[in-house]
Amino acid sequence: MFNVAEIRKDFPMLNGKTMSGHPLSYLDNGATTLKPQCVIDAVNYFYEEITANAHRGDYELSMKVDKLYEQTRDVVAKFINCDRREVAFTSGTTFGINQVAYGYVRTHLKKGDVILITDAEHASNVLPWFRLAEEIGVVIEYIPLSENGRLTVENFRSAMHEKVKFVAFAAVGNVLGYKAPVKEICAIAHEYGAKVMIDGAQSVPHNVTDVKDLDCDFLTFSAHKMCGPSGMGVMYGKYELLQETEPLLLGGGANARFNSCGEVILKEVPYKFEAGTQNIEGIIGMKAAIEYLMKVGMENIAAHEKELRTYLVNELSKLDNVILYNPDGDTGIVTFNVKDIFSQDAAGYLSSQGVAVRSGNHCAKILVEFLGTDDTIRCSMYFYNTKEDVDALVEAVRTCTIENCIGIFF
Ligand code: ALA
Repeated sequence: MFNVAEIRKDFPMLNGKTMSGHPLSYLDNGATTLKPQCVIDAVNYFYEEITANAHRGDYELSMKVDKLYEQTRDVVAKFINCDRREVAFTSGTTFGINQVAYGYVRTHLKKGDVILITDAEHASNVLPWFRLAEEIGVVIEYIPLSENGRLTVENFRSAMHEKVKFVAFAAVGNVLGYKAPVKEICAIAHEYGAKVMIDGAQSVPHNVTDVKDLDCDFLTFSAHKMCGPSGMGVMYGKYELLQETEPLLLGGGANARFNSCGEVILKEVPYKFEAGTQNIEGIIGMKAAIEYLMKVGMENIAAHEKELRTYLVNELSKLDNVILYNPDGDTGIVTFNVKDIFSQDAAGYLSSQGVAVRSGNHCAKILVEFLGTDDTIRCSMYFYNTKEDVDALVEAVRTCTIENCIGIFF
């Protein structure tokens, strides 16, 4: 049974915390999420009870760490429905995308081949492709967005052609929060023999993700946006594609043998991607986070966010000082501006009222051309948010005037 009041008790940051003297309304979950006690305990357990390296020690303590480390891979595999060998630990979505770009795309595409992305991508899903364009002469093309900013099947089909060899897009955009038709796009891309990488940073924490059903070739996501520790993430890839992917980093743990002649034999997938001592506490914390999310239920999470979004959009629509950019969105991301007020000034005022949101261009610097504004305020909700959080935001927006913004901070 989904019960927000009960859920909130699991989060120390939601128990009596204030900001600027007001109860905290944390609505910046697209940037990072709060952590439940079980995740904090899991990380502390590593520090306090079982500190040792993973896959390097022949003693009981280290073997306990090995067990948790590998159990995490099983938990991730179950969470996204893949084989455990298809789960490589990374430092987060950004590293995962870079790993796919330089480890797979750089060696599989050639000059003149096309990579398709959208105008709505986060910097992490743009800049690696720009670098490949410079380095190997691939061409970046953009799938046109619909009038309201969606990636649609029709628009994707119209952008697809024989030269497209790789497609990369966010399953949920970090500014407008629209859901992309991932399964349909993967099917069309595969008809052309192109591979597809999904940026799952804003989707995996909020929805059921089944990579077998989607049939995507790669998927990357971050633990910190799903109640887990920072500096931790996952790169999923189909097994045979991961076998063809070169690791970005080489070092201890990733190789089986090497000799003075420079001959190197790498470990099998996924271990060849995990060079150097890994973020062990992050891995153990991510296991606790995913188990927690599965207990709450991904369907419940998505349904709760949808309910809150409907309520928020309805309330904001009643105010005449608000410009809404995604009133028809599918997720807990609601993006808007307060008329005539610079978004960061408005965010500063909201902060003074206890409300945490993100403002600016949200690292999606191409999308500003589409939106026709350089910056917006983004409210991003999660399953522990309440109507009271929404009410606090709406009241702060209602009273957000130029006079009230003067001298707040920054
Ligand atoms: N990528 C994160 C966001 O959209 C930081 O806020």
